[in-house]
Amino acid sequence: MTAQPSSLLASIQLESFEFTLKDIHSIDLEQLHSLSVSVGWPHRLDDLRFLLAHGSGFAAVDSIGRVLGSAMSFPMGGDFSTIGMVITSPRLQTQGTGRWLMDHVLENVKGRRLGLNSTRAAKRLYSTMGFTAEATVFQCQGQATLPAAQKGQPEALPPSTQLRAITPDDLEEIIALDHLAYRAPRAVLLSQLLPLSKGGALIRDNKIIAFSLIRPFGRGYVIGPIVASSDEEAIAVTRPHIASHEGRFLRIDTREKSVPFAEFIRQSGLELFDTVTTMSMYGRLLNPDQENGKDVKIFGLVSQTLG
Ligand SMILES: CC(C)(COP(=O)(O)OP(=O)(O)OC[C@H]1O[C@@H](n2cnc3c(N)ncnc32)[C@H](O)[C@@H]1OP(=O)(O)O)[C@@H](O)C(=O)NCCC(=O)NCCS
Repeated sequence: MTAQPSSLLASIQLESFEFTLKDIHSIDLEQLHSLSVSVGWPHRLDDLRFLLAHGSGFAAVDSIGRVLGSAMSFPMGGDFSTIGMVITSPRLQTQGTGRWLMDHVLENVKGRRLGLNSTRAAKRLYSTMGFTAEATVFQCQGQATLPAAQKGQPEALPPSTQLRAITPDDLEEIIALDHLAYRAPRAVLLSQLLPLSKGGALIRDNKIIAFSLIRPFGRGYVIGPIVASSDEEAIAVTRPHIASHEGRFLRIDTREKSVPFAEFIRQSGLELFDTVTTMSMYGRLLNPDQENGKDVKIFGLVSQTLG
């Protein structure tokens, strides 16, 4: 028999946990942060603070106060909500905690249309709850650099347009344009996002026809939303952020695989890191008939959680 180190008095393996469901707003932010870090998510405390200010949800807490699961919903305007922050601590996964938390969230959002972006691990959970897959989101990130051919060159803008910085006075106009693209109003979200972001707007005939915002997030910065009607416009409002953040860590979550915009992102140093799947329940989220160059749409997500 091997002798035990003298400091090891005893050990016990506990396999059964009992959870209490708690309002996520009653949970210590540091504990939620540890939970999200435990599944490899990059959120900073400020990113979680922003999500908590915008949504509601639950945490699974064990008998000694450890937070081992979470799930939230985020109301947009109208009858639409997104679902996110769905996490089960790695030591507990595949034992039903995710489903239990989701059941409670779904109870809370009864009667609303729902959307989410599912990781590979969560797809089975959402599919069996009734969510339908609509599109792939490409999470692209890396150290930003302007494409070699564009360095030192003036920005090529679409005909009859000018580019300028977004100001607080633009809020109403960007809310209206975003509404057309996102297909649900998100006035509250955008009004909370704008003070944290810098933005660029593309103007034609004194009207904003495309815009994008950039804000600190995770390991660096995220560009989103990017709202435009064509690849050309989307590149025009994204390029200035790449130029002003050269050498920094940037991220864009996009559903675009069409060559000009997707290629521009890649050439700007933002390589494909992972994919998630946009899913919906009680009504389609995306318009499959959107015509490039005609219909305004979301080229870059605010985040996977908020769409
Ligand atoms: C996704 C996640 C929340 C699931 O939590 P969980 O507590 O393991 O979920 P459950 O035990 O309730 O399982 C739900 C279903 O998903 C399946 N599942 C769980 N983990 C899975 C995995 N890694 N791959 C494939 N299926 C998985 C389960 O088998 C179960 O299916 P079943 O009921 O038909 O048997 C958890 O894996 C997690 O936190 N992952 C990392 C963070 C993440 O990706 N969150 C989702 C954000 S959209």
